[in-house]
Amino acid sequence: MTRSSLPKTAVIIPAAGSGERLGANLPKALVQLVGRPLISHAVAAVSPVASQIIIAAPAGHEKNFTDLFGDSVTIVTGGATRSASVKLALSALESDIELVLVHDAARSLASTDLASRVIAELLAGEKAVIPAMLVTDTIKKVDKKGYVAKTYDREKLRAVQTPQGFVRSVLEKAHAAGGDATDDAGLVEELGVDVKVIAGEDRALKITTQQDLADAHRFLVPSETTDIRAGVGTDAHAFSADPSRPMWLAGLLWLDVVGVDGHSDGDVAAHAICDALFAAASLGDLGSNFGTSDPKYAGASGETLLRETHQRLRLAGFSIMNVSVQIVGNKPKLSARREEARAALSEALGGAVVSVSATTTDGLGFTGEGKGISAIATALIVRR
Ligand code: CTP
Ligand code: MG
Repeated sequence: MTRSSLPKTAVIIPAAGSGERLGANLPKALVQLVGRPLISHAVAAVSPVASQIIIAAPAGHEKNFTDLFGDSVTIVTGGATRSASVKLALSALESDIELVLVHDAARSLASTDLASRVIAELLAGEKAVIPAMLVTDTIKKVDKKGYVAKTYDREKLRAVQTPQGFVRSVLEKAHAAGGDATDDAGLVEELGVDVKVIAGEDRALKITTQQDLADAHRFLVPSETTDIRAGVGTDAHAFSADPSRPMWLAGLLWLDVVGVDGHSDGDVAAHAICDALFAAASLGDLGSNFGTSDPKYAGASGETLLRETHQRLRLAGFSIMNVSVQIVGNKPKLSARREEARAALSEALGGAVVSVSATTTDGLGFTGEGKGISAIATALIVRR
């Protein structure tokens, strides 16, 4: 599919809130972060994927927004609630728009990559897609008297972010039904439409308080006190003598290549990344975290190990800045599936920035002789 034949996407950015909890004396979307207003960060991130951008501005502040963006953005006057603002923005959609992302000016630093991943799911046939994060706190329902009424199973809970993506007709129908919800997926769920959940990202945090603004600042400007750490990891496995052994590499199944021997699925790229992340965080290594003696990890997929590694890092207070992995071997040929591999690894790491490369070794060593495959990874992480 060429880009021009892809369905057109609009991004709606509700920005009509007053920002009461931030406590600045101007609307939150206009508050400055590293030299430009929050809304400008949000617009810059979604512009590469949007045919149309619609901002719902606070009544009386429309001109501030047109001054910032000129004709490149459609400005509407927002409503009394976020839902009302989104509904007003929907009425300004151009006729040829087929997909709509609904964002928040308050999630100013959500990346272009996150918006792209939401759109990719819509293009794959989903009708509603939301990014979400694992929950690290245990969540309880508390009754009016201040006693615990219920404790939720944390494993099943997710904290939801934006941009949320929808097929236009589905979102319009949801808003036409007239309900009010803190997120648009909530309205779509009421229609009985399945909502697909994908990995969110740390930098899509919602800027609500001054503390959040300070956290957002640290994503853009690493300060002297920012604790940034690098780690390196490698892994190698021999090709199996068993022709039925599946080949898992970089989170993907490679049908045309015999797999490698190993305790787990033998995904050297995933394992090297886990090792690099553990090393960066000084949390041991793959073996000390997922020992071969632990039956829980026998046959574990690379994806499972990446997810678990990311969870352990987050619990220790770290976020991933980026991960880079190089695969060394004669086969499989990575180039045709490089983007797919990058996306799979990124998804397993909660939307982290991941790059994937590959090389052969000119016939030298066990990789050059076609006896096996190896990978080397680096990771950069930051303590928050
Ligand atoms: N929003 C909106 N219209 C409203 C209320 C909120 O477009 N009537 C937008 C906000 O501008 C923000 C997003 O919805 O981008 C999420 O709302 P929130 O983070 O609560 O922002 P504010 O309402 O501005 O903040 P506060 O609740 O602290 O006043
Ligand atoms: Mg609000």
